[in-house]
Amino acid sequence: MRILVIHGPNLNLLGRREPEIYGTTSLEQINQDLMEYGRNHSVEVHFFQSNHEGELIERIQQAAEHYDGLVINPAGYTHTSVALRDALQSCSIPAVEVHLSNIHAREEFRRHSITAAACIGQISGFGANGYKLGIQALLFFNRGCKSH
Ligand code: DQA
Repeated sequence: MRILVIHGPNLNLLGRREPEIYGTTSLEQINQDLMEYGRNHSVEVHFFQSNHEGELIERIQQAAEHYDGLVINPAGYTHTSVALRDALQSCSIPAVEVHLSNIHAREEFRRHSITAAACIGQISGFGANGYKLGIQALLFFNRGCKSH
């Protein structure tokens, strides 16, 4: 199984950005850890981070050609981007939305996700471990589909 992990805007600053909310682990460390997690679960994990909405959309559009599933933290675009949701909606592979923080326990404007409805589910509030849970969710989903 091949999975693409997509990190949205400002997540390149992880480790330095509001560490009391997002933790002290850098994006590079998170990706290294996920790569190893993937190896231990026979999953090939690739990564993409962008601060640009259009670049994120282009990667989602191309993803089905190369991957079996997406784990995506749309970051700030979660709450604003109809275009990102449309891209996820028309993508034929399953996507899991991940947030490091529990968006439902934060400011009002973060509690609504525009993008989550185009995903098979959302994981929120478990820090960097949320990405591993996202990979697990895709593995379960994949097995479920194959047994039907
Ligand atoms: C976030 C939550 C968003 O509200 C915020 O804009 C982010 C990070 C998270 O992972 O907790 O950039 O997606």
